Parts: sequence; structure tokens; C-alpha cells
Amino acid sequence: MNLDRLLAEERAAVEAALGRLLPAEGAWPERLHRAMAFAVFAGGKRVRPVLARLAHSAAGGDPDVITEAACGLELIHTYSLVHDDLPALDDDVLRRGRPTVHVAFDEATAILCGDALLTEGLLLLARHPEGEAWAERRAEATALVAEAISARGMVGGQMEDLEATGQVEGGAVDPETRLERIHRHKTGCLLRASVELGAVLAGVSDAVRGRFAAFGEDLGLAFQVADDILDVTASAEDLGKSPGKDAAAGKLTFVTLYGLDSTRRRLEELEEELVDGARGIEGPDGALAAFARFVVHRRY
Ligand code: IPE
Ligand code: IPE
Ligand code: MG
Ligand code: MG
Ligand code: MG
Repeated sequence: MNLDRLLAEERAAVEAALGRLLPAEGAWPERLHRAMAFAVFAGGKRVRPVLARLAHSAAGGDPDVITEAACGLELIHTYSLVHDDLPALDDDVLRRGRPTVHVAFDEATAILCGDALLTEGLLLLARHPEGEAWAERRAEATALVAEAISARGMVGGQMEDLEATGQVEGGAVDPETRLERIHRHKTGCLLRASVELGAVLAGVSDAVRGRFAAFGEDLGLAFQVADDILDVTASAEDLGKSPGKDAAAGKLTFVTLYGLDSTRRRLEELEEELVDGARGIEGPDGALAAFARFVVHRRY
């Protein structure tokens, strides 16, 4: 399996679909649509839609059938980035190699841009794959994503991330418990949902769905641990976002709590668990395990 080629092909499929699905920049309300396109077409890795497509294939489905729904995940993820970068949250000026939306446009536009991307993403999930035959699986998939990004999921993780820095008030919690909870929620929930969505749209049994979900959950934690490491090891050029911000902002991360060496060891352990977990669910092509390795070893 040539992972680079697979990733390039997968991303191209997602990119083309996003181009078709996002409202035209010139359409009313023009400023908002320009901001949405600015945020989306800036070279994200497209990890969540690719993951959904690979999981769908592994569960026996045709990935092209779920590309629109998978793009819904990318719009939702992009909303989370636009809001994460806002001055009241992480106050970042660089994202995907460009100024953040509130810098390139303004703060009010960035807030509305996030609102609109979230809504558009859920709409794609509610509508695709099209047709009566998909109605039940589509509803299940939409609900599982909505649950994953709710206050009990991604947004809850974002809330606790801010409590941990002291940016907002929050009860005192033991940092080790808090850290894992933040990561599993702010990042893990949507990644788990991406894997699970692929499986659910393939119509798998509850037991098989659970195995995909467990793999997605481990992948989500590994993804954020890698993100914490990259914040201290990578360059702005590679990352497309400003490195070194976590410690400066007083973020609770694996690196700020345990140091770089033990975080790297933890990521190695997570990689082993991931490869084991993938063995139980994927088909013969090994794409899910290969993708898990990419997540762990990525440099951007
Ligand atoms: C960044 O996500 C935010 C986290 C959840 C860690 P990605 O690393 O997937 O960002 P893009 O989509 O490639 O820009
Ligand atoms: C962001 O986590 C998680 C979400 C956007 C939900 P981070 O704040 O660590 O992501 P980066 O480092 O800004 O991409
Ligand atoms: Mg953040
Ligand atoms: Mg951030
Ligand atoms: Mg980060």
C-alpha cells in the first residue's frame, strides 16, 4: 500500500466534492460565503472525511457514495477551527497557512462563518446519501455526529480546555484526569464519529460499529497527542499555524504536563493499540492501519 498516493487520491476526491458543495462565493450573503470559502479551501489535511471514507470501505461500502456526508464532517471541523482561533478562545492569527478568519475579515464575520459552516455541515449529513433507501442510516449518522460535537462532546472539551488555562472559571480537577478528558472530547469525539459514520452508513451490526468506534476513539486521542507534540517541535511553515502557543497560553497538554519524552513514549503505545484495533475491523488493504500510522507520525 502506497500511503502517499492513497492520501493524495482521497484528498482529491474530498476537495472536488467540497468545491461542488460549498455555496458559491458570489452568492448572497457574499461576505459570509467568501469567509467560508477562505476557511475551507486553505489546504486542511481533510483527515475526518478521509477517515470516514476509509472506514466505509473497510466496512464493505463504496466510499464515493458517502463523500458528501463526509464533507459535512470537514465543514463542521472547519467551523471548530474558526471558533477555536477567535480572540476569546486561543487567539491565533495563523491557520492552514493563512491569516485566521477573524484577522482576514473581522471577529463578527468569523463567528458567523463558524455558525454557518456548522449548519451547512449538518445539512449535508441530513441530506446525503440521497434517497429513501438511505433514510434510516442517514438519520443515525446525523445523530451520531451531532452528539459527538455537542456539549457532551467536542464543545464540552473546548469548554474544559479554557477552564484548564484559567481563561474561564471552572472547578479544580486533578490535571491528569482533566487532560485526558479534554483531549478525548475536543478532538477525539469528532474523529471517533468520523470512523463510526463510515461504519454506520455501511449498515454494520452494533458489535462491529462498537469496534470501529473504539478504534476511532483511540485514533482521536493519538491525533491530539501528536498535535501537542507538533506544537513544540514543528515550524509554522510545516504546520500552517503558529507553534509554541500551548505553553505560552498556559494550555494543559500532554507535553506541558508530562514533558516531550514521555509524551512521545505515550504516542508509541497508542500507535501499538491502534494497529491492534485496526486489525479487527479492516479489510485486506490495510488502509485504516496505514492511516493510523500517518496520524501518529505526521509532521504537519
Ligand atoms: C487541528 O486539526 C485541530 C485539532 C483538532 C488538533 P487538523 O490538524 O486536522 O487541522 P487541518 O484540518 O489539517 O487544518
Ligand atoms: C482544537 O484544539 C480542537 C478544536 C478545534 C475542536 P487545539 O486548540 O489544540 O487546535 P490547534 O492547535 O489550534 O489546531
Ligand atoms: Mg484550542
Ligand atoms: Mg487552538
Ligand atoms: Mg493544538
